[in-house]
Amino acid sequence: MRARIALLPGDGIGPEVLEEGTRVLDAVAERWGHTFEAKPALIGGAAIDSTGNALPAETIALCRECDAVLLGAVGGPKWDDPRAKVRPEQGLLGIRKALGLFANLRPVTIHEKLAASSPLKAERLTGVDLIVVRELTGGIYFGEKSRTQLGAEGERATDVCTYSTMEIERVARVAGKLAMARSGRLTSVDKANVLETSRLWREVTARVIANEFPSLTLQHLLVDACAMHLLQRPASFDVIVTENMFGDILTDEASVLAGSIGLLPSASLGASIEEHGREATMGLYEPIHGSAPDIAGKGLANPVGMIASVAMMLRHSLGLEEEARAVEQAVHAALEAGALTADLAPRGVQPGRTSEVGDAIIARIVGTREAVST
Ligand code: IPM
Ligand code: MN
Repeated sequence: MRARIALLPGDGIGPEVLEEGTRVLDAVAERWGHTFEAKPALIGGAAIDSTGNALPAETIALCRECDAVLLGAVGGPKWDDPRAKVRPEQGLLGIRKALGLFANLRPVTIHEKLAASSPLKAERLTGVDLIVVRELTGGIYFGEKSRTQLGAEGERATDVCTYSTMEIERVARVAGKLAMARSGRLTSVDKANVLETSRLWREVTARVIANEFPSLTLQHLLVDACAMHLLQRPASFDVIVTENMFGDILTDEASVLAGSIGLLPSASLGASIEEHGREATMGLYEPIHGSAPDIAGKGLANPVGMIASVAMMLRHSLGLEEEARAVEQAVHAALEAGALTADLAPRGVQPGRTSEVGDAIIARIVGTREAVST
């Protein structure tokens, strides 16, 4: 197949992990005879530095012409002034909104050999395989923001949280569909004992699931309890659906189960469209970690979150399930064989560099495993 992929490296470790992602794509293209045309563009702090804008119009236009977008990370101390008018994060939030990517899939899988990297007891991690569906274009992230002067008392700041029925329905459908294809269990997370948006969330989710996915078992859970249960009984969860900010916080927490936030991928999806006789979904794929400016440019970053995001792209936007699985299996095999960056390497073991872990994964994709030592 032929596909056009937008590449948005961004800031910090973004470019170096994206480099490993594109090397993996090249390996997949070669082994299966595909052509992936890479289209680089600016976003985040890098875009601010060269254009004054975290999300230049050309970047949006380019992404719209592509079949999928791969993104590194945005942000860094250079652009961190809270009073600044332009911020790198506006690029990320802006591209999610501009492309209508309302459903963010964040799977958490466990590689058994890495159990020691998690602070949780190994037995608690057995059987953990969950996926969070985070609503991505609504809620407090996108509500009206304001600051007003209160004279001698200082200022007042406001962030408005809003959700409409339609916004909740469409993400509940994505989660429902996913849960049907998995264990049939869905947990919807809200704060319905306090927030009106959460009461609507609960009502709408319950209705969509009862009407459209009647065979699913739906459980509602308050976000504070969910935060606790994610550590106490993580294996009991399968699909979790929640609003934007709760999903942001809970997925960083859930990454602790896997052992490092550097391992976790994500897919941000919009509505499916019929294309070339198959269902195609425009998507943006990125690791869930940030730009990690403290380790940027040193070859220390874990490329696995990015490479696993490439696998999600192959699956969800390009319809290449076999290739997606091959990448995931290569990642798993490389990790189990000890190809570990510093965030995961046990004490006393020399960690692999970003590109070495990339090499170990690529070798397992192209099938020359015998030739590599890690
Ligand atoms: C994430 C990040 C972003 C978010 C930031 C960088 C705006 O934390 O993708 O989880 O909060 O969505
Ligand atoms: Mn986050």
